[in-house]
Amino acid sequence: MEKVRIGLIGCGGRQGAHMNSFEQMDDVAVVAVCDPVAERAEKAAAKFGAKRIYKDAADLFAHEDKTTLDALVIAIEPTAHIGVEEAAVEKGIPFIVEKPMTLDLNQAEKLAKAIEEKNLITCVGFQDRYLDLIEIIKDELPKHKAGGLVYGAWIGGIPGVWWWQKKFTCGGQLVEQNIHLLDGLRYLYGEPLSVYATCSRGIVEPGVDAKPEYDTDDHSTAVIRFKNNVTATLVSACYSKDIRPNCGYVITMPDMVMDYRLRNNLIIKTAHETRDIDRQVDQTLLLDQAFVNAVKTGDPSYVRSPYGDALKSLKVAFACNESMETGKVIYFEEK
Ligand SMILES: NC(=O)c1ccc[n+]([C@@H]2O[C@H](COP(=O)([O-])OP(=O)(O)OC[C@H]3O[C@@H](n4cnc5c(N)ncnc54)[C@H](O)[C@@H]3O)[C@@H](O)[C@H]2O)c1
Repeated sequence: MEKVRIGLIGCGGRQGAHMNSFEQMDDVAVVAVCDPVAERAEKAAAKFGAKRIYKDAADLFAHEDKTTLDALVIAIEPTAHIGVEEAAVEKGIPFIVEKPMTLDLNQAEKLAKAIEEKNLITCVGFQDRYLDLIEIIKDELPKHKAGGLVYGAWIGGIPGVWWWQKKFTCGGQLVEQNIHLLDGLRYLYGEPLSVYATCSRGIVEPGVDAKPEYDTDDHSTAVIRFKNNVTATLVSACYSKDIRPNCGYVITMPDMVMDYRLRNNLIIKTAHETRDIDRQVDQTLLLDQAFVNAVKTGDPSYVRSPYGDALKSLKVAFACNESMETGKVIYFEEK
């Protein structure tokens, strides 16, 4: 395959980051695009000289198949995943899909099964798995006595997209946004044993600080237990306005503290030294390159977060929501 022919489904904010990658890659050609917002589709098509512009995913699938497209990048809102990935699987076209892949667990489970049966290459947009700073943490952890506390935080404002204002359309901040740090915890520590989570509203005033329809949580806290005496507290908040605390992880071990500042730098402290390491890579570019390499070679191992693995992070995030609703601890394995 000379150039990997790519179709874009959804041409909103996040697709912009994938488009930046493809502009830097010689081995891809974006040949088809679609978005119900025609200007977005046209703008994306113009960037790449793509001639095939469709009104939505269904329209694209009515005209395209694996003889015309080698891969798809799906970046649509969490509740828009209606028959989109199913069509890609049916037609056997490998795809990147953004997290959260859907808010419907039943759909995600069926898709994961179908993807596995077809052996289809997939990649979920967990960009941090390709981040150099996360690689450093992953290399460092096994050199120390296992166990300790991890504080994870994503505290910011309300993203500008319309669908973020309602929990029904975004899934809540943990599912939509802090799932990045949640997936990172799984990447570093393996499968969780249990979660307990709480949430709160009342700081953000609908119609004043947010759109009148705002009804998602202002903040939540999840306590996630892992094997080897690791317990993580993952906090999410969207009420910040002018000033924000550090986000990322603080990983505490008996002989080291790793202070990872979200996608920016990593401060490693021991009794004898402090090292401050800046991020050197564009992790979304690395994710896109990994996926394209997988498509070109047929080797799925380039991808660090295939659909089936990402589903495990989605399930943990949904379990946190369940715990927020019921007040119960959700156990995944032994108590
Ligand atoms: N990996 C990351 O770091 C990251 C960052 C931001 C957003 N995201 C995720 O990316 C997804 C999209 O977020 P966004 O910020 O780009 O949202 P957005 O609202 O800016 O863009 C979504 C686009 O999808 C289009 N769309 C909806 N249904 C469609 C369909 N059936 N066919 C074609 N296009 C359709 C919409 O018209 C819109 O233009 C979300 O799941 C979000 O959580 C991931």
